[in-house]
Amino acid sequence: MRRQKLFIVGLVFGLVAALAGCQQKASGELEIFSWWAGDEGPALQALIDVYTEQNPDVTVNNATVTGGSGVEARAVLKTRMQGGDPPSTFQVHAGQELIGTWVEAGKMEDLTFMFEEQGWLDKYPAGLIDMISTEDGIWSVPVNIHRSNVLWYIPENLDTWGVDVPGTWAEFLDICPDLQAQGIIPLSLGQNWTHNHLWEAVAVSELGVDGWNALWAGEKAFTDADVVATWDLFADILECTNDDAASLSWQQATDLVINGDAAFNEMGDWAAQYFTVIKGMDGGTDYNWAPSPGTDGIFIALSDSFGLPDGAPNRPATLAWLELCGSVEGQDAFNPLKGSIAAHLDSDLSLYTAYGQSAAADWASDDVVGSLVHGAVANETFMNGFATVMELFLAGGDADATCAAAQELCEDAGICN
Ligand code: GAL
Repeated sequence: MRRQKLFIVGLVFGLVAALAGCQQKASGELEIFSWWAGDEGPALQALIDVYTEQNPDVTVNNATVTGGSGVEARAVLKTRMQGGDPPSTFQVHAGQELIGTWVEAGKMEDLTFMFEEQGWLDKYPAGLIDMISTEDGIWSVPVNIHRSNVLWYIPENLDTWGVDVPGTWAEFLDICPDLQAQGIIPLSLGQNWTHNHLWEAVAVSELGVDGWNALWAGEKAFTDADVVATWDLFADILECTNDDAASLSWQQATDLVINGDAAFNEMGDWAAQYFTVIKGMDGGTDYNWAPSPGTDGIFIALSDSFGLPDGAPNRPATLAWLELCGSVEGQDAFNPLKGSIAAHLDSDLSLYTAYGQSAAADWASDDVVGSLVHGAVANETFMNGFATVMELFLAGGDADATCAAAQELCEDAGICN
């Protein structure tokens, strides 16, 4: 009798274990939507490789829409989300790009349960958890931390041209004529969003941490004199850039530095990935970096994350993807190839390049502010409208009119009241 009971208990345990195993085994197709195409793809591929090893029955559809900073991808995503055709998961910046857009529209699933189950609540920086949370939940899984305010250069070329790395924009404007006289572009620039990216770094250098934060808290007007002054300075800096900027991708603008046509490029640290992984150059020797002029001690941060759209196809496979994105293993497979650092606090820094290690040290010690262009501080209404504000400035060069347009946009986007 006792034996029979033991047998039945064993059978029940066996069945429960088998059922749990079945539930965990994901299959079918997982569509991962992002703008990490071509040159930007190796880190994502490394993460997908780990996923495929863990989930051999899932077919990954790596769906990319080319275009730096995701301007094009976000437009495609918008059509799909509004048409009730969400991908299984999509790349989205932590912060207002996520919260002020898809969370506000009620299109995402709350992931608090996963943060609790996986024990992530104290494995991510508290500030980052805040950026992906509302009172009602936690809405995405961050996979990295990127820095947007970095100046890139080739040390050997600077020696040849006899210039030092500028610590301020005034120093940059001093060396600009020297470089131009030698036929060198002082600062290479690419298409519209890279202009916004540069303005962001210039604005932070002039407004400081408090001024920048006040803009996004709606406590400072775009028409204030010090904000107007950022556009005047920006205009002077544009005089030191290439004429064909509008037609270049961020990679092509970086190529101008690599090929010795330009002295500097101001770009996020995905450029470190381009120099190292794509061009095979060593950080600290073949290429080097410094904080954008005037931003030493300030880290303009952004974070790529993945979320779970409401009604996403293949929820089990998507949950397995999100669990990997939030794990140390996933982040340490992805970030050394991405130029970013892990968002996870337990990351193993010995796996990272010289650049990654220096970014991690700055992340730990600098004042951190959020990026505008990369979704941290403003919603998509503002981000998209700001591209038009930039065009207005490029066409007319009128700082006052530009600031008036930015202020109106800020009010329309519900940031300035
Ligand atoms: C950013 C994104 C980075 C990188 C960059 C260039 O918005 O967060 O991961 O892809 O655009 O495309």
